[in-house]
Amino acid sequence: MASLKPANPVFVALDTPSLNDATNLAAKLADHVGGLKLGLEFFSAHGPKGVQQVQRASELPIFLDLKFHDIPNTVASAVRAVCQLGVYMINVHASGGRAMMEAAVKAADDTVHELAVARPLIIAVTVLTSMDANDLGETGVAASPADHVRRLAALTKASGLDGVVCSPQEAAALKSELGAGFKLITPGVRPAWSAANDQKRIMTPEDALSAGADYLVIGRPITAAADPAAAAARIAAEIRPYIKTSG
Ligand code: C5P
Repeated sequence: MASLKPANPVFVALDTPSLNDATNLAAKLADHVGGLKLGLEFFSAHGPKGVQQVQRASELPIFLDLKFHDIPNTVASAVRAVCQLGVYMINVHASGGRAMMEAAVKAADDTVHELAVARPLIIAVTVLTSMDANDLGETGVAASPADHVRRLAALTKASGLDGVVCSPQEAAALKSELGAGFKLITPGVRPAWSAANDQKRIMTPEDALSAGADYLVIGRPITAAADPAAAAARIAAEIRPYIKTSG
């Protein structure tokens, strides 16, 4: 499978378990977004074949958001399997630890070497944004969510991964701490003209890119719009002046 490069930094979240909805949206959005994010709900329903169908319908890079978190050997096997799909980006939980993250990178390196394809970016989730200080405390983590994010992001970089998912509000600090080459993927992005929905700490696409985000994950402002292609085209036009040309 050819390795695809995103034409712009927007990955649209196709948060649906419906194969029809996903392939229809993927085809409609192909000219206006950089890539597609498929997650656990879609993968649990349609598996690797579903991912390939969406990929064929759009010819867009895929961020396969499965958030692996298991012992290093199991995560390595899962990474080997998803590398064969030719996806652009995959992710793991940083709280799985250094050995698990290093095993993920090694499995990806070995697999893409064997297949002679490009390695997917391997990204980590630090602290789920659904967790607050109290939730962390209940899991035995005494640090504040912000401190724990910084600790796990530094561990992610030290383990050889390519970047982290973070809130756009955290992007500027993480970029200056971890360097320009360490990729930041930000959900919680809302154009000024769209509804916030249940997202609490939002930024516009332009502000998120200015703060240092490398890729923007945007769902409902596009997928729930009356005309998803027009919404995606509007975002693409608005962010054009803010897109970095390198890296
Ligand atoms: O529709 P919306 O733009 O809010 O979708 C954002 C996407 O990013 C969803 O797939 C959501 O699960 C995901 N996400 C998030 N916040 C995080 C991590 C992932 O909104 N911290």
